[in-house]
Amino acid sequence: MEEEVEINFHEPANLGFVVCKVPTEILNEIKKEVQEVQEDFEKAVDNRHNLVGHINNEYTLEKSKSFLEPFLLEIGQQYNNRYNYVSTVSGVMSGKIGFDLTLDGYWVNFQKKHEFNPMHHHAGVYSFVIWLNLPFNHKDEEAIYPIVNGENRTSKFTFHYTDILGNLGLYSIPADRDLEGHLVFFPSKLNHSVNPFYTSDDYRISVAGNLQIKPNVESIWRKK
Ligand SMILES: [Fe+2]
Repeated sequence: MEEEVEINFHEPANLGFVVCKVPTEILNEIKKEVQEVQEDFEKAVDNRHNLVGHINNEYTLEKSKSFLEPFLLEIGQQYNNRYNYVSTVSGVMSGKIGFDLTLDGYWVNFQKKHEFNPMHHHAGVYSFVIWLNLPFNHKDEEAIYPIVNGENRTSKFTFHYTDILGNLGLYSIPADRDLEGHLVFFPSKLNHSVNPFYTSDDYRISVAGNLQIKPNVESIWRKK
């Protein structure tokens, strides 16, 4: 009789990302500030010198920061609970002292038809993008270049990462109208890009930013 053996597959852990809806109250505060910026670009604070986007209108945000920050910190906490990520980020932490996260950079992109964000990563520990206005749907976008080898990535938000073989992998999120009001949250070092869209003359409006780590002073004192 042939011996039956169990074949066990092992999959080493990897980091992931979060997609979720932004609570309406917070979203309204962000929209209010973004609208003020949009009403007069001349008065807004230009943020292009900090960003790699091939996008002509990118501005710093401030007023809605205090509404958004607690929500981001909660997601950061949950992310860390799942992946124990923050303690691996910096030697300063080394699990011996506590840490706090703080919303550091925070800005809005008004992306026009044909503009794009090349592959890049951010400064910080965690980063996020909130999609406020995505004036297209992917069926229409894909029809512009209907014949491509592999996945059609027109207008998509794409993560670029190395797999277990060291090969470059791509993971695209089809961020169109259906994902307005949603957020994607990821480790800052995770490379990503945004491809151009072609089927609308409206702005694709996204808000983005970074959470930075700061040592918890009280926990340092407790150690002494
Ligand atoms: Fe980015």
